[in-house]
Amino acid sequence: MHGLFGKDNAFDTPKPERLMHRIIEIGSNPGDLVLDSFAGSGTTGAVAHKMGRRWIMVEIGEHADTHVLPRLQKVIDGTDQGGISKAVDWKGGGGFRYFTLAPSLLSQDKYGNWVIAKDYNPAMLAEAMCKHMGFTYAPSPNPQEYWLHGSSTETDFIYVTTQSLTYDACAKIAHDVGPNRSLLICCKAYDDGADAFENLTMVKIPTSILQKCEWGRDDYSLNIQNLPMAEDDAAEEAPSTDGLPLFGGENGNG
Ligand SMILES: C[S@@+](CC[C@H](N)C(=O)[O-])C[C@H]1O[C@@H](n2cnc3c(N)ncnc32)[C@H](O)[C@@H]1O
Repeated sequence: MHGLFGKDNAFDTPKPERLMHRIIEIGSNPGDLVLDSFAGSGTTGAVAHKMGRRWIMVEIGEHADTHVLPRLQKVIDGTDQGGISKAVDWKGGGGFRYFTLAPSLLSQDKYGNWVIAKDYNPAMLAEAMCKHMGFTYAPSPNPQEYWLHGSSTETDFIYVTTQSLTYDACAKIAHDVGPNRSLLICCKAYDDGADAFENLTMVKIPTSILQKCEWGRDDYSLNIQNLPMAEDDAAEEAPSTDGLPLFGGENGNG
């Protein structure tokens, strides 16, 4: 361990690679996924990698950057010849992806209610819904495609809005999407009959999520900020919707 990190940086309770090797050998087969959600110095991932297992590690501390990342890079390039490397004839290889997690989606307001954290915004909700529904988040920069937040194929798209959609709004969107494309609309609610358009599929965002959306407010309330198409952005982002009674109140199919 000192060889890897230097004496001053060594962790207090590093697990020897041989011990992890034994545990992983007993509990998994090559190709299996090994999870260590408290990565520490990264021994689990290093050993799992050398043993031909896939792995996920999670680490909250700075040492994710200062220790775990360089350690696994040395495993990949084969310069880590410590631990079990010689025993398993490790020469390097493979790779990994390194992600920095976003801040927590939820936080507590002053009354102790769980709400969507202020760091989050409607675009982030759209991105989360895209992921949840199996779509790739890729909002169109074209204002005419206000309804395009992501796609699953070249002709199948998703639109996320916290608004209640009237029948006329859906008719307008169905027209804008056109007959050769399909659109999944995730919204707060929609009018009766609004799900009849052939190119639209309507789903309601779970109330449990919507009720937590109160961006930019100091106190707890159920007010919901509109996504693009609404209020200030309406003229800029959805010029073709002028004059239509697009967004309903609470009377829709909610
Ligand atoms: C004892 S060490 C882990 C040792 C390591 N699993 C091993 O086998 O050598 C615990 C680690 O968990 C990390 N940790 C604590 N809370 C965490 C959290 N909520 N999410 C991710 N890592 C966390 C700490 O920063 C610390 O590095």
